[in-house]
Amino acid sequence: PSIIYITAQGDRHEVDVAEGTSVMQGAVQNAIPGIDGDCGGSCACATCHVQVPDAWLARLDPQSDMERAMLEFADSVTDNSRLGCQISVGPGLSGITVHLPESQH
Ligand code: FES
Repeated sequence: PSIIYITAQGDRHEVDVAEGTSVMQGAVQNAIPGIDGDCGGSCACATCHVQVPDAWLARLDPQSDMERAMLEFADSVTDNSRLGCQISVGPGLSGITVHLPESQH
């Protein structure tokens, strides 16, 4: 599957990832600027904050309580905010587009 990252500056990065890769891992593996993933994906740092457009948001699993709680530590959180490490990309999500914040924290 593929993931498309749009940076705060409007740069578009499309990457191919192995099935089951998270949106955070896909960015870290491909050196996409704008996602840190400090905790390694255990929902404990909120430095993988992304904005997911409505059309894709509707296809994601609902937020866990832990994700919701952790997002409170991110900046500029909106209804479209999710943690990238909690989005696992399989074939059904290929082409998912996420917007990256200007900075994490
Ligand atoms: Fe730490 Fe997602 S990588 S919360």
